[in-house]
Amino acid sequence: MAYLIGIDVGTSGTKTVLFDAEGQALAGVTEEYPLHTPHPGWTEQDPEDWWTATVNSISGVLTKSGVSPGEIRGIGLSGQMHGSVFLDDLNQVVRPAILWNDSRTADACIEITETIGEKRLLELASNPALTGFTAPKAVWLKKHEPENFQRTKKLLLPKDYVRYRLTGEIAMEVSDGAGTLLFNVAQRNWSNEILDALGIPREWMPPIYESTAVCGVITPDVANRTGLKPGTPVVGGGADNACGATGTGVVVEGRVLSSLGTSGVVLAPSKTCQTDPQGRVHTFCHSVPDRWYLMGVVLSAGMSLRWYRDVIADSERTQGEQAGTDPYDVLTALAEQAPIGSEGLLFLPYLTGERTPHKDPYARGGFIGLTIRHQRRHLVRAVLEGITFAMRDSLEIIRSLGVDIKEIRATGGGAKSAFWRQLQADIYGCEIAVIGSDQGPAFGAAIMAGVGTGVYKSIPEACDAIISVVQRTEPNAARVNEYNDYYNIYRSTYPALRETCHALSKKVAV
Ligand code: XUL
Repeated sequence: MAYLIGIDVGTSGTKTVLFDAEGQALAGVTEEYPLHTPHPGWTEQDPEDWWTATVNSISGVLTKSGVSPGEIRGIGLSGQMHGSVFLDDLNQVVRPAILWNDSRTADACIEITETIGEKRLLELASNPALTGFTAPKAVWLKKHEPENFQRTKKLLLPKDYVRYRLTGEIAMEVSDGAGTLLFNVAQRNWSNEILDALGIPREWMPPIYESTAVCGVITPDVANRTGLKPGTPVVGGGADNACGATGTGVVVEGRVLSSLGTSGVVLAPSKTCQTDPQGRVHTFCHSVPDRWYLMGVVLSAGMSLRWYRDVIADSERTQGEQAGTDPYDVLTALAEQAPIGSEGLLFLPYLTGERTPHKDPYARGGFIGLTIRHQRRHLVRAVLEGITFAMRDSLEIIRSLGVDIKEIRATGGGAKSAFWRQLQADIYGCEIAVIGSDQGPAFGAAIMAGVGTGVYKSIPEACDAIISVVQRTEPNAARVNEYNDYYNIYRSTYPALRETCHALSKKVAV
């Protein structure tokens, strides 16, 4: 029997899953690590934490599954996008990694746009300069930590740092390269024009592969530490969103991914490298050769609900702990008791600024419309509705670009709850499909490993063979109408509050 491993180096933890060739998960282990916020708006992680979590989770799945290491055909890596790992001449980490949801680089984004020109940047990188992307982090480093910039000799992304530790190889693949803003997304390779204009040495950037290419093998030392067989192939893998889309079969036009994890993502594959002239949704390379995708990102989707759980919902947390129930289940059950639109209460989920559609690191969250009638059930329903309205913003932009949407496949925490699936169907006005595997990006990464090592012929063929829809949720026409009205109010709210949010965020800027 052939087995495959997918490793997802996420923001809250690293999840490693061992699959058989039919796509069944035999064992999965998630190891968590902290996210550091040394200043408001900054988010950082220690790459050593990713590495420790990877080693522990690999040995964990090997022990749990009992599969012989010699039967593992290949490993695929997935990871949080955009995070910068700066390495010195000995490949040692220069400073903590700066993450995708860090917003310190607003000035660097302006500098990049002015240096290259808005139009030219969109032509080359297919995206505008946004704070989360990697290039602004390098430009920030040059200005604010010049010694660290001078010491840097290589720039990697989170999963590619883990690849380096697993295989000794410095490499990257197209789907993550596309999120650096140093990449010619249409040509699927580095843009020398952007690198030169920003004064970032070409030598910093690793060789680029397609997602299914083998670009390293497990070293003997790592084999000793993890229990893997030395020489096990590691393929390019992909950005977490490309892997999430692959693992749900969203690799062909017409299918759209609605992923509600820490961030929220609406992703639509495309056969051409199509861009939004206003740069509100991103255009990145998909893991299938000659395929791209359009993607809108809600920076604090699940993160908003987690914030609500941790900061506001003490009593629901205690209730969950006492009853042995997941506090999220207590919260969604409570939300169900409030009416549609939470009796005129809106929640803006911009707790770490927002990408789509506002492109605004200074956007801030809030409850709007509070009255003394509102109870905890209204608050939590408003949070869930607000996150889903924000996702609809992305869907509307993708629709307006002429993309055909035949089926929306939901994944992440938002797909697990029946209430949230129905909310998505009613707010999007579209059927929501859920597939059999809930292993997220690790599954997509394992599929890529299977293609790269000859277990499957191609990604689309593998998806057709091992992924199927197991559940469908239909929208309710009356609720769709009601939510349309609320959505129209929602979308007009942030523009009216922009100046206030900017003024507030400047009060606490470093
Ligand atoms: C995508 C993005 C996030 C991260 C989360 O552009 O920034 O979805 O990939 O891991």
